[in-house]
Amino acid sequence: MLYFILKYRKGRKTNRKNPLTDSRKLEVFWILGSLITFLGIFLCGAGLYNWQTQPPKNAMEIYIVAKQWMWKIQHPEGRREIDELHVPLGQPIKLVMTSQDVIHSFYVPAFRAKMDVLPGRYSVLWFQPTQTGRYYLFCAEYCGTNHSAMIGSVIVMQPADYAHWLSGAASGGAIPSLEDAGRKLFAQLGCISCHGDRGQGAAQGPDLRGIFGKQIRLQNSHVITADEDYLRRSILQPSAEIVAGYPNVMPTFQGQISDEELAQLIAYLKALRQETPQGGSR
Ligand code: CUA
Repeated sequence: MLYFILKYRKGRKTNRKNPLTDSRKLEVFWILGSLITFLGIFLCGAGLYNWQTQPPKNAMEIYIVAKQWMWKIQHPEGRREIDELHVPLGQPIKLVMTSQDVIHSFYVPAFRAKMDVLPGRYSVLWFQPTQTGRYYLFCAEYCGTNHSAMIGSVIVMQPADYAHWLSGAASGGAIPSLEDAGRKLFAQLGCISCHGDRGQGAAQGPDLRGIFGKQIRLQNSHVITADEDYLRRSILQPSAEIVAGYPNVMPTFQGQISDEELAQLIAYLKALRQETPQGGSR
């Protein structure tokens, strides 16, 4: 702009004939240039987004229930803690999170990791700790009076220390793993009367073996993937998505089980995946 102001200012002797009205070269350059630049930025971003939202297969799954105003954490081995999350160094960690009341947000600034935690569904966040130490955990969504006090920490330990910590806490007897707690609930709540004691589809309920990650055909002929959210909905609002070929007879468990218990049940259903059918009689 400065160049043109100086070059063409009034009284300046300069060639003003045949002003250029269009330039094919310039148009091609800026259309292709910006297209390639922004497509490139989009592709990098999409790749990164995909990487960020797909936890590695070997990730350790930890369940988190947020509530006003604390973080309740359940490890797969059964150990529970509040406002502190212990994890082993170098191990990819997948957090499966839900809220008991309002929207919270799980935020560990040092890990550049943040994810909203919503009531009524699961959100997933994963990270892989690379340094031992204690890191701040904040709630990053205004959730009421004590939102600013909803602070915890993530403690990254050497794997050996972590194993020690996991076992060391059991002061009185062993803690049942999430899966075992879920198996017990499965019996207690009477799930086994329709789904069988090993989820093998005894009477009127569908076979639950290998359910997690499976493509499920519904009565309305939609096909959906059985992820954590699907399992959760199927327990709380069973009549919403009826599996093709089965009657709509399952009662709802809304209000009868807590979010922690739901996590245990889901951990059990996931484990049914590994169980081989030839397990036979018990
Ligand atoms: Cu929980 Cu803010």
